Amino acid sequence: MSEPINVVVTGAAGQIAYSLLYQLAAGSVFGPNQPINLRLLDIPVMMTVLDGVIMELEDLALPLLREITPTADPNVAFKDVAAAFLVGSMPRKEGMERKDLLAANAEIFKVQGKALDQHARKDVKVLVVGNPANTNAWICSHHAPSIPKENFTAMTRLDQNRAQAALAARLNVSVDKVKNVIIWGNHSSTQYPDAAHATVNLQGSTKPVPSVVNDDNWLNTTFVEKIQKRGAAVISARKMSSAMSAAKAAGDHMRDWWIGTKPGEWVSMGVLSDGSYGIPRDIVFSFPVAIENGQYKIVQGLPINDLARSKLSITSKELEEERTEANNVLQNK
Ligand code: NAI
Repeated sequence: MSEPINVVVTGAAGQIAYSLLYQLAAGSVFGPNQPINLRLLDIPVMMTVLDGVIMELEDLALPLLREITPTADPNVAFKDVAAAFLVGSMPRKEGMERKDLLAANAEIFKVQGKALDQHARKDVKVLVVGNPANTNAWICSHHAPSIPKENFTAMTRLDQNRAQAALAARLNVSVDKVKNVIIWGNHSSTQYPDAAHATVNLQGSTKPVPSVVNDDNWLNTTFVEKIQKRGAAVISARKMSSAMSAAKAAGDHMRDWWIGTKPGEWVSMGVLSDGSYGIPRDIVFSFPVAIENGQYKIVQGLPINDLARSKLSITSKELEEERTEANNVLQNK
């Protein structure tokens, strides 16, 4: 058994955290031999709710879960953390412009970036879930100059899982038979779910998804729009945003980053662009990555056709605009 690591979850009294905390405590993210201390950050008015969550965590009676620290103080929450799930953010309220949402969240992620900078381990792995996730991750990393920029990532794993499930349903196979579908760009409706490089295992032999589906119109329009609009479809049916599936995706993202991907397989993560595939540098863009020894590398050399190129350009433009807005907001403070 290893020494316990400190793990912080922000927005700990919220919906996503409610499902995520069980996975962390049960060992499905950091492994069955890694005890954890949980730091639970939320805002002061949520502390009573958080008390209830803590009672439930205790009642899970799970041996890997050691100390639990509820707090509204980022300086306490981020102390010596090895992994950070930044889930809490200001939700969009009625009549709120996108700019107002960005402004409210820019401040939250600036404060948390500074707290990470001062208090976290320098090798901390940060996953931003709270929206706008990519730009929040960018803001956070800019306020944590002592932590390498590659340690800040944004979640597009839910989109990847949705895409994988949609392809498996179309091909009438179980979801584990489909690999290497890619989410490019922003976690927003401009994202590009790309099945061009995906494979499916049919009776033990691996085949390219596009040739098995054999319907470019479905792959290039119906499939793409279904994934882009899936979050909105869940909200419309449930009257609340995806939470169980978002928490599962957050666990998947961190587990793969912590433990690694299998040879020849990749996953999608929002990471700081290094200019790969002609994407502008210095935006947090979702790329296919392969992970070894806790380090991810952007998968290189995949052919990009004209359709994909135009979609990549739309989503990278949106991220550049969000970065400009975030800069304006932060400079005017
Ligand atoms: P929720 O509203 O149930 O919970 C959010 C929690 O964050 C609340 O308890 C709130 O008090 C807390 N919070 C607000 N400001 C905070 C601060 N400064 N510090 C710490 N905690 C703070 O929301 P839910 O459903 O858990 O979603 C959380 C976020 O995740 C939202 O921004 C949502 O849009 C985003 N999301 C992202 C997905 C992705 O794929 N990247 C998928 C689904 C949701």
